[in-house]
Amino acid sequence: MVEGLWDRLAVSLGPRVDDLVVVAEVASSMGFRSALVGGAVRDLLLQRRVLDLDVVIEGDAVAVGSRLAQSHGFTLRRHEFFGTATLRMERGAVDLASTRSERYEPLGSLPKVQAAGLTKDLARRDFTINAMALFLDESQRGELVDLHGGLDDLKKGLLRTLHPDSFLEDPTRAWRAARYGSRYGFSLAEETQRSLGDALGQGAMKTVSLQRLGAEWQRCLNEADPTSVWRVLSRLDLFAGLHPELGADSTLVPRLLAVLESTQQTGLDSKGRDRALWLALSMGLSPSAREATRDFGSTVKGWAKAWETTPPRLEKIRVRCETSERLGEWGEALRNCTDSDLILLHSGGCRSREAVTWWLKTGRFQQTAVSSVTLLSQGVTGPSLGCALERARRSCWEGGSEQVQWRAAQSALELPSSQ
Ligand code: CTP
Repeated sequence: MVEGLWDRLAVSLGPRVDDLVVVAEVASSMGFRSALVGGAVRDLLLQRRVLDLDVVIEGDAVAVGSRLAQSHGFTLRRHEFFGTATLRMERGAVDLASTRSERYEPLGSLPKVQAAGLTKDLARRDFTINAMALFLDESQRGELVDLHGGLDDLKKGLLRTLHPDSFLEDPTRAWRAARYGSRYGFSLAEETQRSLGDALGQGAMKTVSLQRLGAEWQRCLNEADPTSVWRVLSRLDLFAGLHPELGADSTLVPRLLAVLESTQQTGLDSKGRDRALWLALSMGLSPSAREATRDFGSTVKGWAKAWETTPPRLEKIRVRCETSERLGEWGEALRNCTDSDLILLHSGGCRSREAVTWWLKTGRFQQTAVSSVTLLSQGVTGPSLGCALERARRSCWEGGSEQVQWRAAQSALELPSSQ
């Protein structure tokens, strides 16, 4: 029995706690019990800020959501297939789900779900610390349901699965363990460590799709300190589950750390950072391994092509930057680069770093005095036009005056056509 949990929740959530009361009242009027579950209960007990609200209903969660949407004018997004719904309430979103049990057939696939009571719902979860609930109904409001020793494990700092086959059923739990382990400084309980080793030894990671692992990777990147998650992933040998080449790559974690450092040093934004961190994985792969892991790269919409094409393209640019000190060459090499390209190049070599720093501070702001409009009006078209502009740009980056830039453009036009 933990006293005062409801008051603690009210302090953590502020007025948002009233949204939970409204959900409970409507569920109760339909004859269903409701409870807060998962991360919210865990973080409440850890005295951390409660952010995402997951509520289970012992009954039809979508019907409760619809009733709330009708009666209170909230927006509801239904996910009928999963029996869940997201309710956008007055002060934020609440995720509603019907309590259920799960069957994993085959192991590693998404589970088949079946309506069940709260006890079974808690028993299907990943770790004891995530398998607790807090009743929301008026009669039991604030009462903790802890059937698997979650509170005790929270106190001991342990991640413990609820049964030995947990990682075989859902191997993404290994990635979740790495995240929670580093976020809270928790370690795996002895038997959980053993069952993880057994599951990995049995090739559990091969049963889970690369898309799902991609979603886990993105969650790792969203952590406040992703660096410690990478170290745990590496220690638990989970990168090998993406591809054996990554498991054997001792430069992987240093490469990721360098990308993070380069993001800070270049001042480029977090979207560029995330994309660069994704691609840093691809950079360590051979072309055939890259092809084999294409689905991992395609988790983020529009990135599938980049997973395969970016590493060889950037390698060419890197070599250009490393083998020349000419600003004109650096400018030409970098001028079409995206933010993530620039972060990766900055992290990939001394002279490339110098080149990217120059580009961000100076090069990208320099505009050549030679305009395509003027050249076109002089009858210059096609490849000659491109060539003249390139010469002018290079001259501009190298500090050429307006006159020198025009002369550079002109020199391209005077070349015999075979050049
Ligand atoms: N869950 C699970 N197995 C998974 C994913 C989720 O058992 N593979 C359960 C856990 O009980 C978890 C809850 O679903 O607490 C909600 O999942 P999610 O939102 O991913 O995690 P949170 O616990 O909210 O943690 P985080 O702070 O990382 O979002």
